[in-house]
Amino acid sequence: MRQKILQLLKENSYISGEAISEALGISRTAVWKHIKRLEDEGYQIKARRGAGYTLLSVPDSLLPGEIRPFLKTRYLGQNIIYKQQVSSTNTALRRLAAETVAGTVLFADEQTAGRGRLGRGWIAPAGTGIWMSLLLRPQLPSRQAALFTLSTAVGVAQALRDMGYEAGIKWPNDVLIGGRKVCGILGEMQGDIDGIHWLIMGIGINVGLTSLPPEIEKTATSLALAGNTPPARGMIAAAVLNALEENYDLLEREGFAPIRERWQKNAVMLGSQVSVVTPQGKFQGLAVDLDEEGCLVLEEAEGGRRQIIAGDILLQEAAFHA
Ligand code: BTN
Repeated sequence: MRQKILQLLKENSYISGEAISEALGISRTAVWKHIKRLEDEGYQIKARRGAGYTLLSVPDSLLPGEIRPFLKTRYLGQNIIYKQQVSSTNTALRRLAAETVAGTVLFADEQTAGRGRLGRGWIAPAGTGIWMSLLLRPQLPSRQAALFTLSTAVGVAQALRDMGYEAGIKWPNDVLIGGRKVCGILGEMQGDIDGIHWLIMGIGINVGLTSLPPEIEKTATSLALAGNTPPARGMIAAAVLNALEENYDLLEREGFAPIRERWQKNAVMLGSQVSVVTPQGKFQGLAVDLDEEGCLVLEEAEGGRRQIIAGDILLQEAAFHA
């Protein structure tokens, strides 16, 4: 109901409480209560005697009302859960996974214990980024889940590029601008031999962070640091969801080949000497390709080729082409 009231406020320069109550079939008191809630969320609304309510400003937020107007998706983000603060959006969505519809997106303004890949943390202060997790139920064998994280990186990079940022992808699924990480993706799943039950894609995009904590100062960036004032977070989030759904549809329809091509086109380290940390140890060599299974192909000094399934390229040691 609040979303409908917001819609009416956005469509009319002034609208009376009576007109809202008639349009939506609710009491004047209910209208007033919803208006107060919107004000608590950061919408500035002025009531003028005789004329009604007018919307003065909207918060830069991840509230559903700031995302929905820009969404062009069939299923992704059609169900939005918004939380002011959570420990981690991935953890919060995992708890709801069994009874939640595919395409649900959980947003938080702040994460107090954001999680990164390989057991690392993710810094996610209030109001400074897009911290979101998507619930997917792809009809794919579990071993292909990693292809979804690669497609997610392709979608995020594509959306940021469309907004004018020089975004590129570092294997497997970090999105960089100017050689620094602006977005990280944490894919988690539950499945068995027969298939994937659910897949959660956790995406963190640094938007407004202007001073970075010392531990990520040399390797990270934000949209604010990489360019001029970024667009509103709601608009960026919707653009990312639109691009993601397009890439997920392509993956499910045509398989990994077209996504692989897009990934390769946007890769920032193919053709560079890299150091990769993997569960089997650290390897160095020339990053030559992303293969059909989403693995990194490394050409080692002795001339042999190594296929790397999981790991992380060290950012500080890498000298990318980007
Ligand atoms: C990485 O690069 O290590 C992955 C970082 C993923 C961070 C995002 S923020 C939203 C979602 N919730 C989390 O706890 N982590 C992911």
